[in-house]
Amino acid sequence: MSSAGPLQTFPEALAARERRLDPYDWYADRRAESPLHWDPDRHCWDVFAYDEVKRMLGDDESFSVNPREATGFQPAGEQTFLLETMLFQDPPKHDRTRDVVDEFFRPSAVKSLEPFIAAESQRLLAEALDESDDGVVDLVDALAYPLPVIVIAKMLGVPAEDREQFKQWSDTIVEGTAGEEEDAEALQERQMEAGMALANYFRDLVAKRREEPRDDLVTSIVQADEDLTETELLGFCMLLLIAGNITTTNLITNAVRTFGEQEYWPGERQRDTAIEEVLRYRAPVQSMTRVAMEDVTVDGKTVEEGDTLVCWLGAANRDGTQFADPDTFVPDRRPNQHLGFGYGTHYCLGAPLARLEASVALRELGTEYEVRPAWEDDDLEPIESSFLHGVRSLPVRLD
Ligand code: HEM
Repeated sequence: MSSAGPLQTFPEALAARERRLDPYDWYADRRAESPLHWDPDRHCWDVFAYDEVKRMLGDDESFSVNPREATGFQPAGEQTFLLETMLFQDPPKHDRTRDVVDEFFRPSAVKSLEPFIAAESQRLLAEALDESDDGVVDLVDALAYPLPVIVIAKMLGVPAEDREQFKQWSDTIVEGTAGEEEDAEALQERQMEAGMALANYFRDLVAKRREEPRDDLVTSIVQADEDLTETELLGFCMLLLIAGNITTTNLITNAVRTFGEQEYWPGERQRDTAIEEVLRYRAPVQSMTRVAMEDVTVDGKTVEEGDTLVCWLGAANRDGTQFADPDTFVPDRRPNQHLGFGYGTHYCLGAPLARLEASVALRELGTEYEVRPAWEDDDLEPIESSFLHGVRSLPVRLD
């Protein structure tokens, strides 16, 4: 089967609101038929089973992340920077790039941010409550959305006085049109402008840190490898900003949505395993794409060189061959080898940071307040994304 260029669309079957909010029955039905299916409309394979998803993410030689290699995929605007980043590089180049920042994202390195994350969480929640006249706040607007941008801006070394402007650019880049008056073209234009503004901002910051090093991530990137090109440097900054924001937003939101449904709130001892279970049960990133570099046979079907494969992490995470009682939320599940942060070479660089942010945010929420759902399931609106999984807003009552 041949691949016909870039993968642009989300499976039709998942487009409806209910399916976006809860795609798991659909995954289960597909997986029961076969671990992988060819979709003639999108010209790609969808992979739903744990072992096969893991195999594809774990085998860089047969399955590449480099979309230009086989599909000619060309993202527009600010996203062209992303093509030069580790996310779209195969080894050995990937490993050299990732080495530059690896140590700054280790659990021991991000740990020092804990007091900052706690203080910012408290501030954001207090501000949101101040503005609310009935004690109900939108968890997304109040906390889950702003927190990750504030944290990564601080890590990169964006001075406090620039963070609001920085956040606005970053918000524009990830904004969707849904529910707004504006048409897609106008939004695209604004996003392009915001991308350019951010790139210029980073260009300046990089120049400043070259002149006058500080104790921040941009300085570290600049010093780590003097041979990095300007595009690579900007790519780094953009990737860290874009890869870590809405993903972490959705982890925090999916956690509170799930805890609310389950009438459960984790105590100190269960919080971290409960977060792992959210990453399994409602993975913020539902799918990752790969391109076959050679012909491969899976379940008697031939994936041809050049074919695109969509690996459904969210489906693999509900595979009963790997997880007992896969559709039940088990807050202290152990072991829990979920694929929520991917697997293998591209395993999420920011996983320790995302875990820390979620853990501290949920701790601050739960210790400062009693959190009660103020949403009706009928009111939940899914975010419109081809690979992210979450809701646009989640009203909660804080007492
Ligand atoms: C809950 C939050 C997050 C989730 C669910 C998530 C998920 C993922 C996944 C599934 C991948 C694998 C991509 C692939 O295999 O093609 C990935 C890669 C990556 N993530 Fe995250 N991520 C999160 C937060 C973050 C944060 C906070 C950062 C950094 C600030 C970050 C930076 C990256 C980078 C740089 C990569 C590429 C790594 C590589 O190619 O080696 N992520 N992430």
